[in-house]
Amino acid sequence: MSYYQPGILAAPVPSQARHLFFALESIEALPQALDQLLARVDGALAVAGFGVSLVKALGARVTGLKAFPALAGVGVDNPSTQHALWVWLHGDERGELMHRSNELEAALAPAFRLVGMQEAFRHKSGHDLTGYEDGTENPHEEAAVAAALAEGEDGLRGGSFAAIQQWQHDFKGFAAMQQQERDHIIGRRLSDNEELDDAPASAHVKRTAQESFTPEAFMVRRSMPWIEGDKGGLMFLAFGHSLNAFEVQLRRMSGLEDGITDGLYRMSRPITGGYYWCPPLHNGQLDLRALQVAK
Ligand code: HEM
Repeated sequence: MSYYQPGILAAPVPSQARHLFFALESIEALPQALDQLLARVDGALAVAGFGVSLVKALGARVTGLKAFPALAGVGVDNPSTQHALWVWLHGDERGELMHRSNELEAALAPAFRLVGMQEAFRHKSGHDLTGYEDGTENPHEEAAVAAALAEGEDGLRGGSFAAIQQWQHDFKGFAAMQQQERDHIIGRRLSDNEELDDAPASAHVKRTAQESFTPEAFMVRRSMPWIEGDKGGLMFLAFGHSLNAFEVQLRRMSGLEDGITDGLYRMSRPITGGYYWCPPLHNGQLDLRALQVAK
């Protein structure tokens, strides 16, 4: 039986998904809402993450968890839109996901109010809408477990820290660029996904090369594209045993290490940002022992 929420490491990402963001409205109603959450979130078809404000409302503390900091870089901004609770629904069918999402919303009321929802989907075998393959350098198997899941005592072991940023692409601007310019933004060749040795220092995969940080900054990315009307982009999602790997990468991407910003910001901008702690599983249910909620 899994000791972590298996949806975190399940690859590839599901063909359809929904990201639900909830605000906490009533602390009095929280115990019943947590019962509902435990009954409905299995960690596989639904992954749940607690924001720091929810952890505080439970009178608890998770070391390393904090609110997403609005990060001002060199000419680029990473906004914070932190919420109390995040649920990532996985599925194969958009209509079925809508019904599950509505049921969960009703079950969690009145303690929680749905304040944000974003549908997401798998493009091809796991590509960004720019056409580039996403997730190539993700760690696998034991390396993925080591990167994404926390160690420690019961209640903490198998937990994971999620960093979520919704990025909105400038598709027209990107399409107007020469192919080489696009490849240099990513640092890989679109045609065969080969990493480019001659890519500029601003290239995304040079900025984020996981082994180039001290300590190395490995994490498991589970990003999925989103489209709404004529807008679209990437729902960036990364899991780590702490938030450090994500933070050092975002800082370097934002130019805070050496003044060089990631080429990605020339074709995309983050419009949201949140940090969540995903509790481990115990006997098939979310394990809330670290939050001192005896269930
Ligand atoms: C618009 C948003 C983004 C897009 C379209 C994007 C796309 C990509 C692509 C195409 C790759 C190369 C293939 C791969 O290894 O997955 C990549 C690699 C990577 N990205 Fe992103 N990414 C985005 C945002 C971010 C953010 C915000 C971070 C972290 C703060 C990040 C961290 C990484 C890492 C760690 C790698 C692997 C680097 C390596 O070790 O080679 N990405 N990304």
